[in-house]
Amino acid sequence: MARYLVTSALPYANGPIHFGHVAGAYLPADVWVRHRRMCGDDVLFVCGTDEHGVAITLQAEREGVGYREYVDRWHQEIGCTFERFGIRFDAWSGTARSPHHVEFSQRFFRVLLERGFVFEREEEQWFSEASGRFLPDRYLQGACPECGHPEARGDECPKCGAWIEARKLGDPISLVDGSRPVLKRTKHWYLDLPKLLDAGLRDWYEERKAAGAWKPNVVGYVDAMLADLKPRPITRDLPWGVPVPPELPGSEGKVLYVWFDAPIGYVSITEEWAQAQGAPESWRDWWMDADTRLVHFIGKDNIAFHVVVFPGMLLGQDADPTWQPASQAPIEPRSFVLPWNVPANEFYNLQGRKFSTSQGWTLDMDRFFERYSVDAARFHLVLTMPETADSEFRWEEFQTTNNSLLADKIGNFASRVLQFARKRYSGRVPGPATRQPLLADHEALRDARAAFARVGDELDAFRFRAAARGLVQGFADLNRFFDAMEPWKLVKSEADDDRARCAEVVERCLAHLELGSRRLAPFCPDAAARLRAMLGEAARPEDAGRWGGEGPDQPPTRLPEGAELGEVGILFRKIEDAEVEEEVRLLHERAGELRA
Ligand code: MF3
Ligand code: ZN
Repeated sequence: MARYLVTSALPYANGPIHFGHVAGAYLPADVWVRHRRMCGDDVLFVCGTDEHGVAITLQAEREGVGYREYVDRWHQEIGCTFERFGIRFDAWSGTARSPHHVEFSQRFFRVLLERGFVFEREEEQWFSEASGRFLPDRYLQGACPECGHPEARGDECPKCGAWIEARKLGDPISLVDGSRPVLKRTKHWYLDLPKLLDAGLRDWYEERKAAGAWKPNVVGYVDAMLADLKPRPITRDLPWGVPVPPELPGSEGKVLYVWFDAPIGYVSITEEWAQAQGAPESWRDWWMDADTRLVHFIGKDNIAFHVVVFPGMLLGQDADPTWQPASQAPIEPRSFVLPWNVPANEFYNLQGRKFSTSQGWTLDMDRFFERYSVDAARFHLVLTMPETADSEFRWEEFQTTNNSLLADKIGNFASRVLQFARKRYSGRVPGPATRQPLLADHEALRDARAAFARVGDELDAFRFRAAARGLVQGFADLNRFFDAMEPWKLVKSEADDDRARCAEVVERCLAHLELGSRRLAPFCPDAAARLRAMLGEAARPEDAGRWGGEGPDQPPTRLPEGAELGEVGILFRKIEDAEVEEEVRLLHERAGELRA
């Protein structure tokens, strides 16, 4: 048994999250957490909304809404989306709502400053005299110094993609008031990443690399980044965010850069959770126990922050005795753990293009969940997850997953076995053969269990697609067993042995169906629960959350004779061609490409 602290990237409270986000950083985490728990591990699953930063202040200002009201709305909305997908965090909060987030963020900053990992620097920055404020990156528009595009922003150029130093923008205007800004000197604080690299960041990264922890996409990105690592500014001139510690001269009007405070949200949200559990200091057991395995699920655009910047911030805290509660003194100063793994995914697109809410290129959640099941959505997203390369949601493929895999393989096996037992054995688990067992463990059953065992092995290694394929394979093998045994013939046979054999076949099918329901559970929790209800007394409630060690050489134990099965229902409804055609048509119509 191990202890895992699992996080999913805190989504910006700045718009809806779509299937692409879900497939990238939230669903894999949820599936993984459910599996770990079934294996008996101790897991805490933490998330919340990322509620600061320029993108948020700009949009709230455009809509004429207060910052807090704005992020509250999105926090709420995003929380509902996760619920719909059956994604269940233990701790769910946000960086502008977790009660000690400001204190924790300032604490991180102060410790880094005292230890020389943060330094200050004076520089020129665009200032609007009309509004009396400095203009951080996206508040500016001007000519791109690289390609000349006139509508580049202060952080990047939408045309050529160049990363821009705001100072170098040609002829900038202020997007808040339309005025021409002037350059003015001001102070900012920088995180000294090169220094952190030498202080242990590189050793940790290389050690995890040697252990084979990092996915190839992570190694490729981080190796390149470390070859040319520079200090990064971690403060901004903004009216919304975590204030730079006020005792510092020149801190007025300045807040911590959103990417500095956001990952600290993982810590402050854990602390909030610990408070709510009535054990306020227990957050340290998650963050400072050397045995905790910290796992960050993220999308590829977040790699730098989770494999370099945040680990650097954690490491820079060192074993600081002042992080300890006075009540527990004297104890050994503890350090923060560094990530054990960061299973980053690539991007997930929709039908050949990037998801875009503003361009209508998206899946309407209300519509989707009125018509299709959350289980089918989850399973299809896992099966097509952008694990090693960008991938996409295609309506036709979703239909195939639902119809040919979920309904024809999994649903079909369940219903033929359960219906057979209902009809021939009055809905009860048939008894064992009267004499010695007539049925040796069949090769198809061994194959099924080997495939089911693979589900766990692949999940352990963060290979979600292969895990989902293993599940389908297991059910395909079980169907093969049922077909090979032909119980519908045996049951009508005149020979006692044949009828006894039939009873054994059905019992083995039911026992393996029960096993399959547990393997299905991390992916399709609702369907798994319904399947267990259909199995009735053949699926003991206390086993629902247990992964179990059944493998090729370990068949499931015999079910109790006479156990009453439940009502047989439909596990997965088939999706018609016409439905898919309508969805694709609607997608194009909404995106304005087709006329109705
Ligand atoms: N809000 C960021 C994004 O959506 C992710 C923040 S993750 C955290 O890309 F670690 F900073 F919290
Ligand atoms: Zn450009």
